[in-house]
Amino acid sequence: MGNDKQLIIGLFGFGVVGEGLYRILNQTPTLNASIKKVCIKNPNKKRNAPASLFTTNADEILNDPEINVVVEVINETDAAFRIVSTALRNGKDAVSANKKMIATYLPELLTIQQETGRSLLYEASACASIPIIRNLEEYYDNDLLQGLTAIVNGSTNYILTKMFDEQLGFKDALLQAQQLGFAEADPSLDIEGWDALYKWIILLLHAYGIVAKPEDILFTGIHQIHNNDAVVGREKQYEIRLIAQAKKLKTGKIAAFVLPQFVKPNEHLRFVKNEYNGTVLESSFSDKQFFYGKGAGSFPTASAVLSDLSALRYDYHYEHKKLRYQKPAELTDDFYLKVYVSFDDWNYIEKNDFLWIEEWHAENERKYLVGVIHAERLKNKTWWRENGNSLILTPDAIVEDVDIRNLKKKSLELAGVQLG
Ligand code: HSE
Repeated sequence: MGNDKQLIIGLFGFGVVGEGLYRILNQTPTLNASIKKVCIKNPNKKRNAPASLFTTNADEILNDPEINVVVEVINETDAAFRIVSTALRNGKDAVSANKKMIATYLPELLTIQQETGRSLLYEASACASIPIIRNLEEYYDNDLLQGLTAIVNGSTNYILTKMFDEQLGFKDALLQAQQLGFAEADPSLDIEGWDALYKWIILLLHAYGIVAKPEDILFTGIHQIHNNDAVVGREKQYEIRLIAQAKKLKTGKIAAFVLPQFVKPNEHLRFVKNEYNGTVLESSFSDKQFFYGKGAGSFPTASAVLSDLSALRYDYHYEHKKLRYQKPAELTDDFYLKVYVSFDDWNYIEKNDFLWIEEWHAENERKYLVGVIHAERLKNKTWWRENGNSLILTPDAIVEDVDIRNLKKKSLELAGVQLG
């Protein structure tokens, strides 16, 4: 029986997730797992665990032959990579919740796993308690998976819910997200979209076998969203969410981005409020499937770490089958997006970047337009994230079949030019 294996754990980090794991493990005696040592940075901080458990010397864990699993839940990126790579090279398995580290060092981590044959699991790194990585890895074959649409950051979703459902100010909502342990130590990672980007890079690997770099993906966060955007949305019964998307286009290539979006009343993701996350998978034959659960916080995140530990008892590892497909999936920026942009001053709007402007509302102090723009242009330009401008995707934003001649004709007609 493979599941009798005893796990002797060396834990790095005793913050929101680390302490959550310690508590959960104390309540899960069936797992046959125990924490032997916890490596922390600051020995003077008061902690709710016996002092003998703690060390500040990483080697006490990394060089201990009895420890067979290293769990890494620290904030630093480079230090986390050193810990995980050394653990794997020293013959240990590793579990991490560190999305920035995994997304940043993805190629290196893939190589080390291959070289060492050890297992690195990180279910907690994306959507916390939702078992999305293992499902993508095991269940959804590349050919069947047409697209994923997801809310992957709990803090920004919490802030948007508090702002627009309860009329709380942005700063107060962020403060609550910090106090509840949802936000990153540096909350700009949440609100500027970085955290969602890192998670999306991880999910793209397991969904499509794509190893993307941060600079490959068009993204922003919620920091530019203006109060008036919610007012405009509400007129159409839309709410705003920060949404990560990946879609297989007709060319077979994958469009992937993380941007705020207006969500219609009947959409699955509309149901996702506060620190919850949600992922809608669309496959060729089963149509839509919706995964929903807590995406941040101590116990929800630690529960995913626990599930990884449990999987290590039967020597589970990600096979990364999709990386070895004959025709690997490829990212593309060659598609159009229908966007809403609000602004105070039209001088800061580069109108010529739009293929077509469908609506133009300049009557109020806060103005807005709705238009179609090429994704590559959006990625390479910065005006839409500067000078108080705010960009939000319209629902069903991806436009694939653009008849450029027809659109040009239409916009000329709108401009009052007679066509022969
Ligand atoms: N800061 C992250 C979030 C924590 O808000 O989603 C969970 O990864």
